[in-house]
Amino acid sequence: MQGTLPLIKTKLIVPGIQDQWIRRAKLSKKMKAITEKPLTIIQAGAGYGKSTALALHVKDQNQSCCWYTITSSDDDILPFLSYLTAAIQTLFPNFGHELITYMKKMDRYIREEELSMLSSLFINETLQIPEKIIVILDDFQAIEHSYHINVWLEKLLEHMPGHLHLVIATRTKPGWRVLAKLKARNELNEVSKTDLIFGKEEIELLLSDFHQISISGDQLDQLYNITEGWVIAIGMIAQRLPHLQSLDELLAEPAKSLEDLFQYLVYEVFSKQPPMIQQFLEQTSIFEELSTDVCDHILGMNGSIQMLEQLTAKNLFIQQIGGSSSGIMLFSANSSRIG
Ligand SMILES: Nc1ncnc2c1ncn2[C@@H]1O[C@H](COP(=O)(O)OP(=O)(O)OP(=O)(O)O)[C@@H](O)[C@H]1O
Ligand SMILES: [Mg+2]
Repeated sequence: MQGTLPLIKTKLIVPGIQDQWIRRAKLSKKMKAITEKPLTIIQAGAGYGKSTALALHVKDQNQSCCWYTITSSDDDILPFLSYLTAAIQTLFPNFGHELITYMKKMDRYIREEELSMLSSLFINETLQIPEKIIVILDDFQAIEHSYHINVWLEKLLEHMPGHLHLVIATRTKPGWRVLAKLKARNELNEVSKTDLIFGKEEIELLLSDFHQISISGDQLDQLYNITEGWVIAIGMIAQRLPHLQSLDELLAEPAKSLEDLFQYLVYEVFSKQPPMIQQFLEQTSIFEELSTDVCDHILGMNGSIQMLEQLTAKNLFIQQIGGSSSGIMLFSANSSRIG
């Protein structure tokens, strides 16, 4: 089997957190529901605090969990299952022997019945674990396009053992048909961008407790309006403050001061898009707002509605306006270095 390369063990460790990071009651409640439902999906764009919320929950609740940070090189069923098995083995070392033996005999070309076998073996072996298992898959978007992984996960979700709780943190929402069924049965715990964004009081707390900065009510309003509660943006602004005369200086010219943030986004989001999307974003980066009219008439593109829908699904808009056909661009030239 292909997955014989040594596994990178740091991908199986819960990310470290800092004590001063902000805890939020509403979010903690949703996190606690992880053990009440078979599946939890935490879905929001880059830097909204998904991994942090999970790491804080695990630490604060002293919750044993099997953590797996997925990367794009895991984008097939064998590497994915090798890591998933190793993640479960961090708590239950005897897990997965039959599954691993079976995988070792498989070749690269995977048949449908082998996928069924892989899910049956996984399910049956989890049944041998006599206690609750929490499995956290972080950065699921890195492998979202893998057909085999999606089929395997859907099979698992159809027949989830009652003591297994799966948590998926992702920038994009999985398109599994089984989700509708889970939702109808009230078996899906959904955490969204709305749950993750920081309110004004939380921004104030983040600045005072974490960054030791105090700001006026007016400045807080401005900061909230600029960042819309996007925690990575708030953090980056806070880091720049000691290098400025005042917050007013930064608020007067937020785009320039958010340069670091957009560098991060260029690396984290833009560089990981397929070439077609990268090209589209480059061509449209002169616009702050984008609509099908702009794309079709000004840029002479065809079928831009599908592209805009894809961008919306991938959270590449800061804000969507008026349905799925227009939005405010994350990568506009006013705020980024692309193009
Ligand atoms: N509760 C918090 N208190 C303080 N800072 C926070 C908190 N949550 C997030 N942050 C800050 O925001 C940054 C981004 O958060 P995090 O990495 O959790 O986002 P993410 O949604 O997992 O992003 P990605 O999609 O890139 O994985 C963190 O590195 C941290 O600096
Ligand atoms: Mg993350």
